[in-house]
Amino acid sequence: MLKKEINDLLTQTGPGTPMGEMFRQYWIPALLAEELPEDGCPQIRVKLLSERMIAFRDSEGRYGLIDEFCAHRGVSLWFGRNEEGGLRCAYHGWKFDVTGQAVEVPSEPEESNFCAHVKLRAYPLVKIGDVLWTHMGDPAKRPPMPEFEFAKVAAEQNYTSKRWQECNWLQAFEGGIDSSHVSWLHSGGLKNDPLFKGAKGNEYNLADFRPYFEVAEADGGLFVGARRNAEEDSYYWRITPWVMPSFTLIPPRGDHPVHGHWWIPIDDDNCWTYSFDYHPTRPLTQAELDAMRAGHGVHSENMPGTYRPTANKDNDYLMDRDAQRRGELFSGVRGIAIQDASLQESMGPIVDRSKERLVSADAGIIKARQKLRKAALALRDEGTTPPGIEPAHHQVRSAAVVLPRDASFIESSREALTAELGKPHASV
Ligand SMILES: [Fe+2]
Repeated sequence: MLKKEINDLLTQTGPGTPMGEMFRQYWIPALLAEELPEDGCPQIRVKLLSERMIAFRDSEGRYGLIDEFCAHRGVSLWFGRNEEGGLRCAYHGWKFDVTGQAVEVPSEPEESNFCAHVKLRAYPLVKIGDVLWTHMGDPAKRPPMPEFEFAKVAAEQNYTSKRWQECNWLQAFEGGIDSSHVSWLHSGGLKNDPLFKGAKGNEYNLADFRPYFEVAEADGGLFVGARRNAEEDSYYWRITPWVMPSFTLIPPRGDHPVHGHWWIPIDDDNCWTYSFDYHPTRPLTQAELDAMRAGHGVHSENMPGTYRPTANKDNDYLMDRDAQRRGELFSGVRGIAIQDASLQESMGPIVDRSKERLVSADAGIIKARQKLRKAALALRDEGTTPPGIEPAHHQVRSAAVVLPRDASFIESSREALTAELGKPHASV
């Protein structure tokens, strides 16, 4: 249960808010690289942390993320023309380069030097892996580029998708560190999804509905361990790393790729869910890629030309009551990603956490909220750099392991929880 002030602190990420300032310390995904596929391609609107911007790739291949609105009269540059070396406003022809600098104001005399004094707010946009990353904070405090393993493996070992989720980032993220819902909501997926099924661990996952949670500190966030019974003398541990503010890795299953998510606030009522699958030691197979593109596993089938899922709030997520009755789909909603989105969106755009009743299986969520709050306040009050910014903090792995009953999950898994290119994943 959270007081309203704390809920506001954790959920609001606009300019000037403590959590918003914290998000602005990190490199975060701004777009998928596929959204700006070639030099001089059409620009797109991007809203992040409640700021409206335009992303474009100029004729030289440089990426830019600049204020959506022209410095002249506030017209949206979405209507502009992506020309030689910059974006030209459709209203009076003012032209801006990828740094937001005005490079032409045609109505002014050439010798006036007026241009030099006009600059739009702009952020960097850098491609690593399938993602274009941005840093929306103080350029003087810009950290080194992120080093998450999914973005560093060879292109053929990774697949990244994204979807628009119509709720606040925090309730979406909380689902990502909550292993206990998997035995219920995703029970059908554990048996049937081509990217989940067949692992030995799934049997333990489906047989034990009372996971015991233990949380261990990590340099960049937490390791959330969910323990279920395995054999008589052993436990099955699913270990989910969280790197602050909102990056998580789902524990793997057998030889399936490792999945993970990054939740990025669009504004306080909406977020982007970036979902990826990578295999640390081999290329993804054609069958796996086909399944991911079709919306299996953690991915979604989206409406053509958009990142809005085909099954969404406006069509009741294509609820299938017959499949729900038969037990084929526990909630009647198809696909693991949409199962999560539908329930998280059903809580309302920002759930009222003063009314919730948390239980011991919510230990990861409770601890994560404490850490987020503490870090946001330490940044605001003392200027303390929050955890998860250092590239070394990104080098974590999820793991699914069977351990003797008396073993400490964290001590036994340190090696498995450290990312290292080419090292096999610990996955039962
Ligand atoms: Fe889920």
